[in-house]
Amino acid sequence: MANKLFTTKSIDRLMRESSGEHDGEHTLKRTLGKTNLVMLGIGAIIGAGIFVLTGAAASQHAGPAVVISFVVAGLACAFAGLCYSEFASMIPIAGSAYTYAYATLGEFIAWIIGWDLILEYLFGASTVAVGWSGYMTSFLKDFGIIIPDALCNAPIFYDAATQSYTATGAFLNLPAMAIVGIMTWLLVIGIRESANINNVIVVVKVIVILLFIILGWNYINPENWHPFIPENTGTFGEYGWSGVVRAAGIIFFAYIGFDAVSTAAQEAINPQKDMPFGILGSLVVCTILYILVGLVMTGIVPYLQLNNPAPIAVAIDATGDGLAWLRPIIKIGALAGLSSVILVMLMGQPRIFFSMSKDGLLPKSFGKVHPKYKTPYITTILTGAVAMLVAGIFPIGLLGELVSIGTLLAFVIVCGGVLVLRYKQPNINRPFKTPFFPIVPILGMLSALALMYFLPIDTWIRLIVWMALGVIIYFGYSRKHSKVNNP
Ligand code: ALA
Repeated sequence: MANKLFTTKSIDRLMRESSGEHDGEHTLKRTLGKTNLVMLGIGAIIGAGIFVLTGAAASQHAGPAVVISFVVAGLACAFAGLCYSEFASMIPIAGSAYTYAYATLGEFIAWIIGWDLILEYLFGASTVAVGWSGYMTSFLKDFGIIIPDALCNAPIFYDAATQSYTATGAFLNLPAMAIVGIMTWLLVIGIRESANINNVIVVVKVIVILLFIILGWNYINPENWHPFIPENTGTFGEYGWSGVVRAAGIIFFAYIGFDAVSTAAQEAINPQKDMPFGILGSLVVCTILYILVGLVMTGIVPYLQLNNPAPIAVAIDATGDGLAWLRPIIKIGALAGLSSVILVMLMGQPRIFFSMSKDGLLPKSFGKVHPKYKTPYITTILTGAVAMLVAGIFPIGLLGELVSIGTLLAFVIVCGGVLVLRYKQPNINRPFKTPFFPIVPILGMLSALALMYFLPIDTWIRLIVWMALGVIIYFGYSRKHSKVNNP
């Protein structure tokens, strides 16, 4: 039995199956080029992290040194991004980390990572939908349209201090559910259409961020950057270097999504070359933008004033009448940004389910491709329905940390997978090779583990419960239906 758990799937077999020729079924269509892939990455990356979370990271933990936190979190992602690129160019199949683990570490670990990725993609989409709902209700309010609190808030509140849940009296977060519904519909009707809409949204959000950086630059008061790393208060994580690391843990969320590019590998026209370009290109662009936003934001206002879920708006308000006209535009940019993150996350998840179903680990119907739209429509609708429910019920803080820990676990396994495969199959064709081997994958694993270490204990418990549920499903269903183990 132990042997079966660690059965791997050969890369040849993976590639053969992905062409869809083996069973004459509909398969995914290769329509995405280099630019679309970078846009998909940026679409998934820039969202709630920069538009919502940066304020708390700067004001409570790092001060202006939040800029260093962006570099630290960006570096951890760069190590993982290089490892993802090696795999995505070598095994360009829709399942992303799940497929890579199947080829290297065996079926059980593959299942574990597949199950874990639900936290990143499905729960990620829900988290950002809750952020979207906050921006949308505030935007509508500017025009005199008031959505009652009971209809735009989570019915559950989690108090981290007492580790208890209470009812808020709200019914459901309806705007959050609505945006998930709209994006799901878009994804069912086509990946090409979805990618085109994503491109438009990405252009809007990048322009808005550039406007903030360029125009805000003139309002920087360098005194706000002194001291750049505020002195630690005596409590771990409150300023000083420990604060910089704690802030890096929070804004790690802002980088999540570059790996979603790899879930579109089976729809890329030239995946061997374009996958690394899409993953690393989007990561580089976003890192530069984040560092600049951090500099401008903390340069315009004293960092203590940034404790707000809309920190960019706070910075703009501080410019007086100077940039007041930019305020509604920033909200539009944030709404656009969050929408594309939801879209790409909801695109990634069904493609992972699709691969798991093709392997027999999930029911066959999960692998159905729509005869007309050529999208994995059953899993797209299922993902959308569950993400809607989660977005409607849970608060953003609880979801965000769960998404971060799930993603970091995936990074550890992917970096570990690169290490294992280089030794196990050194001669395999690798169109892209992670440089400075084995330092990069080892640093990738260590930095992801370090960021996980700084997440709260209750988030760890939720991760363990979630994974335990996955193990039960594996032994109850998947192992018996696995195609590799039951040829
Ligand atoms: N990186 C994505 C965001 O910040 C998840 O919204």
